[in-house]
Amino acid sequence: MMIKEAVPADALMLAEMFIGYIDGHREYISHGEIQMGVGEGFISGGQLVAVPSGCAKDKWLKYINEHIADKETSNVWKVVDECGALAGFCVADIQEDGDEPFGMVCDVLVSEEYRGKGIGGELLQTAIDWLKGKGVKDIYLESGKNNHSAHRFFEKRGFCHVSEIYKLA
Ligand SMILES: CC(C)(COP(=O)(O)OP(=O)(O)OC[C@H]1O[C@@H](n2cnc3c(N)ncnc32)[C@H](O)[C@@H]1OP(=O)(O)O)[C@@H](O)C(=O)NCCC(=O)NCCS
Repeated sequence: MMIKEAVPADALMLAEMFIGYIDGHREYISHGEIQMGVGEGFISGGQLVAVPSGCAKDKWLKYINEHIADKETSNVWKVVDECGALAGFCVADIQEDGDEPFGMVCDVLVSEEYRGKGIGGELLQTAIDWLKGKGVKDIYLESGKNNHSAHRFFEKRGFCHVSEIYKLA
């Protein structure tokens, strides 16, 4: 399966996969999804309880459309199987509110049936190569506190845990 840049016509398919996934896997919802209105989070017993928001799909569609449209500071890659179904995708962007522009790998998601075949690793490397090609030196990502398998995946691929995020209860 080939990695291709996503086009505007892919946005709905990407949103349906993403929202369907986070609905069943709330460990994916971190402060980033809450800040962008895709998730809602409250603290219970000292722990974040996060759920998709009522307008999660609309908010995420807006976000992904913007990232597909602006190829200067963001990009989206997709992997589609032989039947045309989405097997995975990755989103990267360049943020310019630091001393120097820095890269973010915003989302990486592979459908459960296609995991463990190297697709996630290739999508991540594609995003890293694109960001480096744009001259970015530092690359970050954020991941929900309890998304442990994703943490192992990123650590194995060179990412180091550097910060903790706190939310006022
Ligand atoms: C993290 C994720 C993108 C990895 O995608 P993937 O296509 O399985 O990635 P790869 O095949 O390149 O690597 C997965 C690793 O798990 C192992 N693995 C084996 N079988 C697996 C399976 N059924 N499911 C998942 N991983 C499996 C692979 O061997 C590989 O091991 P390695 O890290 O020692 O190389 C995918 O698990 C996913 O979509 N997770 C949910 C979304 C998520 O949390 N994303 C990160 C948000 S910040």
